[in-house]
Amino acid sequence: MCYHNVTIYSTENGVIGAVNGVNGWEGDAMYRLGIIGCGLYGARVARIFGDAAKAGRIDFCAAADVDGAALDDAVRRYGVAGYADYREMIAAEALDAVAVVTPDHLHEEIAVFAAEAKLHMLVQKPLDTTAAGARRIIRAAEENGVLLYVDFHKRFDPSIVQIKDQIAKGTYGRLLYGYLNIEDIIEYPSAAFKKWVHLSSPAWFIGVHMIDALNWALGRAPASVSAVGQKVKLASMGFDTYDYISARLRYADGLTITVDSSWVLPNSFPSAVNQNIRLVGTEGFVEIDGQDRGVQYWSAAEKSAVSNPYGFLESHNRLTDCGLSGYTVDSVLYYIKLLQKLDGGARLADLRGSYPDGAEAVMATRVVEAAHESALLGGADVLIKEAL
Ligand SMILES: NC(=O)c1ccc[n+]([C@@H]2O[C@H](COP(=O)([O-])OP(=O)(O)OC[C@H]3O[C@@H](n4cnc5c(N)ncnc54)[C@H](O)[C@@H]3O)[C@@H](O)[C@H]2O)c1
Repeated sequence: MCYHNVTIYSTENGVIGAVNGVNGWEGDAMYRLGIIGCGLYGARVARIFGDAAKAGRIDFCAAADVDGAALDDAVRRYGVAGYADYREMIAAEALDAVAVVTPDHLHEEIAVFAAEAKLHMLVQKPLDTTAAGARRIIRAAEENGVLLYVDFHKRFDPSIVQIKDQIAKGTYGRLLYGYLNIEDIIEYPSAAFKKWVHLSSPAWFIGVHMIDALNWALGRAPASVSAVGQKVKLASMGFDTYDYISARLRYADGLTITVDSSWVLPNSFPSAVNQNIRLVGTEGFVEIDGQDRGVQYWSAAEKSAVSNPYGFLESHNRLTDCGLSGYTVDSVLYYIKLLQKLDGGARLADLRGSYPDGAEAVMATRVVEAAHESALLGGADVLIKEAL
């Protein structure tokens, strides 16, 4: 299905070598990629695919969305074929890989269908909103021998990478307790995702990023979770969803970490998301202000903001030739890099451990699922009973 981008370099006397791909990217693939879901975040993933296509790394050829306006936008911007039904897209386009960027509760059916069509997949977080659904996706990927990559971009955030490295080196000693929060402005649940906000929660939508980052950085998952949450502000606006979920994770060695997820910050907050991390150990501690990365701007033309150019920057990246950069972009580009490695002869087993995979994603899902179960039980401790 994929075709190859091979450049022959020659001297006057003859060929001296054949270089596959461009700019040092591995493999020689020109994979045919499609996207399913072209909404708010799908538009960003499509933009990254569009850039990668311009740079000659992939053939971004198709998009599917049940919403005509979202689909038309992708078709117009990237010249891809558009489909209202993703199944028709998969049947017609001889794709190699897809990105699934549909609402949180709509990943399973699409991902299983894509896996059965032997397509590699990037699936947005959370992989699914039930551990059982996430496991069905994993099984489908395994049975069909396709890559299942979950877009947990915090693993590309340098501050999280530093925490992981320092925990491994013992910089903070034995961790004792910690606190993480991640909070969106209320515009997201009340406007952007209002159609499906009752089927998600702040813990599914953003908290799961922090849970995966913790699982990844610590190399282990909590033994149990207890959580509380309230439905006040958004309920008063007609949306049946939690304003916040406050989850307390307990680990086998006694470590306790509280993770607060919310999406009711006022729209006047100068960033889309507020996020902080504090971990305290026997020999030290770490604090990260993930919202204020030290960049604030004032402009007559737009709302002034505290921005995070490390996460997303609309500026040409000289290394990747992508028109965008930042860790949210790197996460999607890394998926493309893995596809190119596969085309270059790597086996799925060779890539294991180098990317956010299904097994790790099911663990993040299970922790958030347990937090919801606990909240319904009034904060009772819910056992995780799974190993990372
Ligand atoms: N990685 C991140 O940081 C990040 C950020 C935001 C959102 N997300 C995730 O991305 C996913 C999508 O979120 P969003 O913000 O783009 O939501 P959205 O509502 O803006 O977009 C979802 C799109 O999927 C489409 N869709 C629904 N059912 C479909 C179907 N059966 N076939 C094709 N298209 C369908 C909708 O019409 C819509 O255009 C969610 O899982 C969300 O959690 C990830």
